[in-house]
Amino acid sequence: MTSTLLRGRTLTFRRRPLSMDDTQAYAYETDGALLLRDGLIVASGAYNAVREQAPEDAVEIDHRPHLILPGFIDTHVHFPQMQVIGSYAANLLEWLNTYTFPEECRFVETAHAQRIAVHFFDEMIRHGTTTAVAYCSVHKTSADAFFAEAMKRDMRMVAGKVMMDRNAPQGLLDTPEMGYDETRAVIAQWHGKGRNHVAITPRFAITSTPEQMSAAQALAAEFPDLHIQTHLSENRDEIDYTLSLYPDAADYTDVYANYGLMGPKSLFGHAIHLSERERDAMSETGSIAVHCPTSNLFLGSGLFPLKELARREKPVRISVASDIGGGSSYSMLRTMDEAYKIQQLLGERLNPFDSYYYLTLGNAKALSLSERIGTLEPGTDADLIVLDMAATPAMALKAEVVTSLSDELFLLQTMGDDRAVVETYVAGRAAKTKLA
Ligand code: GUN
Ligand code: ZN
Repeated sequence: MTSTLLRGRTLTFRRRPLSMDDTQAYAYETDGALLLRDGLIVASGAYNAVREQAPEDAVEIDHRPHLILPGFIDTHVHFPQMQVIGSYAANLLEWLNTYTFPEECRFVETAHAQRIAVHFFDEMIRHGTTTAVAYCSVHKTSADAFFAEAMKRDMRMVAGKVMMDRNAPQGLLDTPEMGYDETRAVIAQWHGKGRNHVAITPRFAITSTPEQMSAAQALAAEFPDLHIQTHLSENRDEIDYTLSLYPDAADYTDVYANYGLMGPKSLFGHAIHLSERERDAMSETGSIAVHCPTSNLFLGSGLFPLKELARREKPVRISVASDIGGGSSYSMLRTMDEAYKIQQLLGERLNPFDSYYYLTLGNAKALSLSERIGTLEPGTDADLIVLDMAATPAMALKAEVVTSLSDELFLLQTMGDDRAVVETYVAGRAAKTKLA
């Protein structure tokens, strides 16, 4: 396979930035390059040094003056909710019952699941998201459609067949046995195939009986390397309802702890209204709180205390996500703009370096996948994006007065969306400009 040499300004993180001035936290090359071969980054750094390592027949693509970054990672998104976005509801439970559950029922049809999967991957690529952690529907066929499309696109994806056996329409319910058997079948069929990762996915405590939670626990014990994803403490009425269904639990987090579902590969969507005890439990188990800012604002769920959770003595691991279709944008740039505003309302500062750390290396670390994605390190997957801070007339005008990298990142986050993504490379191949 021929090699590709990308030229542009390159930015990658080494660790979480401690402040705006923490230049050791990242590597930035004003005339940088990446050498790509067989889906991997084989060299990165200053253009002249990388060029010397490139074979004669390498194809050079000049992306100057744009910025090349690792592809964005979205750690919580619902693939069957592409047609739920923008549904007018007062709160989470009304939104689920009125719009979301009926829509997900349609995924019993294989043809529908396949059609939406094509759109889903198109949107990920269009928005520069190269890895996502997705909920499918309860139907195994939805997971089959999702993973088949992921393999076609050669994208690194984490996803699971949802387990839910109560408090939803009949067409959206499995049973403890079905949830267990079908999740095992999805694992056997798809985990480790191509770049696919299967996640154990009990939707949340309200829609799983104690028997199904035990089935999820059995899966977690049998497949300890798999990710687990669910929802936690998103909305006050949801919390009260959960505690009425699990009266013996000390709090909402304790429900999942009692079924052995916490740990360093467990992703808890939202986790907004946690007590100090719950925060300690999250921290002690290395569990991840997944911040979904556009969703939290859209559904009026609450203000996620990101900075507070990150700086406490027992810090909580955090990732960021779109939560489509509770979320209102596929764009991880829009997502961080809303994350920034939430911290503003809480009297906290979220600096641009911190934001882009979360979108790349931070989310990769939260998924225990930083050996593969979220960085421009040689040896990792060549999943990359190219960003243009002057993508629209209004952005170009503002860009005239931008004088620093932090200003550029902040402009992209504040005004950018899919239009700012010039190209998305998946496993070393240009994917966005190839979209139909
Ligand atoms: N809680 C349980 N299911 C869902 C869902 O689909 N979206 C959101 N935002 N919260 C949930
Ligand atoms: Zn969700």
